[in-house]
Amino acid sequence: MALSDSAAIAGELRRLLPHAHAPYSGVHVAAAVEDADGGVHYGVNVENAAYPQGVCAEASAISAMVTSGRAAIRRVWVASSLPGLIWPCGGCRQKIWEFSQAGCEVVSVGRDGTEERHTIEALLPLGFRLEPRGA
Ligand code: THU
Repeated sequence: MALSDSAAIAGELRRLLPHAHAPYSGVHVAAAVEDADGGVHYGVNVENAAYPQGVCAEASAISAMVTSGRAAIRRVWVASSLPGLIWPCGGCRQKIWEFSQAGCEVVSVGRDGTEERHTIEALLPLGFRLEPRGA
């Protein structure tokens, strides 16, 4: 991926952070999912007064990707309002795993433009996979 694309995605994540609905934690998160065709799908965290009903930014972005008809993740980007880098929660690692192959990158983008990346298998060793059942 060209550096300019990477900068554009990081910029879009920063633009979307205020859209997060996070009145309970105060932590705004934005995520992007790059599909295997190069399309990019965005999401933010959406909290709820009934706390467990909240949705992480990565889950929102994955839903947007699936809704668009794509089902293969090449790369995930995440940014937050916190000072340091953040990484997807365990549940979101499993959600990413569902749609990715070995080598899929997760890129964390800091407020100052710092970037760090790890593969999904590094973030979720021995992840659970189940072969889809035939129709
Ligand atoms: N959150 C995300 O959206 N993604 C992550 O990777 C970690 C945490 C959200 C969930 C909750 O709305 C807030 O951040 C604080 O946990």
